Amino acid sequence: ALHAEIAGIKFDDIFLNASGVHCQTTAELDELLATKGTGAIITKSATSAYRAGNPSPRLSKIPLGSINSMGLPNEGLDYYLDYVTTKQADKPMLLSVAGVSYTENLDILHKVQDSSFMGITELNLSCPNVPGKPQTAYDFETTERLLTEVFAFFTKPLGVKMPPYFDIVHFDDMAKILNKFPLAHVNTINSIGNGLWINEDTDTVVIKPKGGFGGIGGALAKPTALANVRAFRQRLNPTIKMIGTGGVVNGRDVYEHILCGADLVSVGTQLQFEGPSMFARLEQELLAIMAEKGYTSVDDFRGQLKII
Ligand code: DHB
Repeated sequence: ALHAEIAGIKFDDIFLNASGVHCQTTAELDELLATKGTGAIITKSATSAYRAGNPSPRLSKIPLGSINSMGLPNEGLDYYLDYVTTKQADKPMLLSVAGVSYTENLDILHKVQDSSFMGITELNLSCPNVPGKPQTAYDFETTERLLTEVFAFFTKPLGVKMPPYFDIVHFDDMAKILNKFPLAHVNTINSIGNGLWINEDTDTVVIKPKGGFGGIGGALAKPTALANVRAFRQRLNPTIKMIGTGGVVNGRDVYEHILCGADLVSVGTQLQFEGPSMFARLEQELLAIMAEKGYTSVDDFRGQLKII
């Protein structure tokens, strides 16, 4: 009932972690692979080399969500490439990569191209948390130039992780760019960048990096996430599949992502705070909604949002 397919790779369930949550170490990735309800897993976004990330506290729970400025802490590309090429897994493993510069993205993708990894690579164009480094996907010209350069040599399945957009012309223009390339998928949204939360007892920010500015996730992000999934699904070539991310707390949220056009649904903030047993709960809740509506497959309602 909860199947999907991206780049010819079959998924027996629609759920995965949002990159960045519960996926930095092999122990965490192993746990996600063994979790009931995950149809795939994705690694923490890899840079060329190990990064310690920003100073702590760098993630905080806030009412209705989370704020984070992790700063790309990760074990480095070789660590994740080794995991996804040697781990015996019964579900697809996606490799997320995020160079902190234009040339680092190219270097990383050359290494992936030259490796034995045949799964889906997700190029993260939307990390908002590295001080001094703008996120690529808010620069439309650079995004097009980078993807042009990438697809000149990269022949394996490649998707992109996008930040939220807030303007209809931005949806139009970015979809036009993405449609020029044989992308496996578009994953939307990353966190809503550079929000600020203030502790009302102390009048202080709640995370240390960047004076308290950080990406917002969780329930607060749902309307923006659904709008981005819907807007891109209406504009992208049907060959480009979609991963919906943002604001998923319960089965209804998952159902709504699928109504907007998501093929797979990934979960970050709620996974961070509830832990991997969340996936079985979301699956149960989604199946209950589907049963009530008489749907036996996600194909029965994917993209079928009604307008008035
Ligand atoms: C980080 C946050 C992101 O939203 C992202 O896409 C990549 C990295 C981080 O702060 O580690």
